[in-house]
Amino acid sequence: GEDEAGGIDLKNPPKGPISLGFSQVGAEGGWRQANTESIKKAAERNRINLNFKDAGGDPKKQIADVHSFIDARVSVIAFAPVVETGWGEVLRRARDAAIPVVLTDRLIDEKDTSLWVSSIGAEFASEGNLAAIYLENDYVGTTGTVNVVEILGATGATPTKLRAEGFAATAAKTGRLNIIDKATGDWTKDGGRAAMRKLLDRNKRIDAVFAQNDDMGLGAVIALEAAGKKPGTAPKIVTVDGTKAALQGLADGKLTFVVECSPEIGEPLMSVVVDLFHGGRVPKRIESEKAVFDSQTAADALTGRTY
Ligand code: AHR
Repeated sequence: GEDEAGGIDLKNPPKGPISLGFSQVGAEGGWRQANTESIKKAAERNRINLNFKDAGGDPKKQIADVHSFIDARVSVIAFAPVVETGWGEVLRRARDAAIPVVLTDRLIDEKDTSLWVSSIGAEFASEGNLAAIYLENDYVGTTGTVNVVEILGATGATPTKLRAEGFAATAAKTGRLNIIDKATGDWTKDGGRAAMRKLLDRNKRIDAVFAQNDDMGLGAVIALEAAGKKPGTAPKIVTVDGTKAALQGLADGKLTFVVECSPEIGEPLMSVVVDLFHGGRVPKRIESEKAVFDSQTAADALTGRTY
């Protein structure tokens, strides 16, 4: 009708303020910090009351935090899951309480997809695909297999699983990249350093490293330099995220490629929250843009990088 704006009948506006309960994975590194800042800034800009909780990487605490949002009767619940499993019970409780749930960044392993109204984040498998494609292209004109080691993120998280699957699927296509070993770096710089140290001990010839995030890749650089290697060249290093620190590492020649995963989920999340609050329809899936950087493009991108 004539009184409708954007499909919403404003004759009966819902009573504000809008409140959002947001449960974050933790503070494991640069990407996460930028993601938290994006969410806090966007909540403030959109006048949304943010109830922010940090799970500190603990899946049990995270579920307890989401229960507390239901108890507090927030308008909308959103969370970036530490792990994919264990969500059924608390999300059924949110549904019974008629509180819409939005997944951000990562996904959960639940058959009943009606437990969340929307998910916002990156396509992790294609990040793995891209990492392998760029690495492989760097060997065009040479012969022989390329020995690759992989530094994995924390076990049970969507990007850990899907980046590995994407990388392996692309590597398998030409058979040029040979994934010889993997170690867990838990997403952190220190974890990446320790994982690289282990991989160096276990493997004679490492031509390339695929680190599933920037922090672990930058940790690997430290371990490789300590072992007298020339990271970025021998071995080559590909990471995922695109933080300022990694772009700087690329520009300095210590990393080879960085596949971007945008942490800037705040604004798209708040627009979904506002739409839900007003009873509007929201897309089931919202995907982030990405790019791939090399030393040249990293130098250009560094100027405008805020995280
Ligand atoms: O889920 C996204 C991943 O989580 C980022 O790539 C990583 O840096 C963070 O820990």
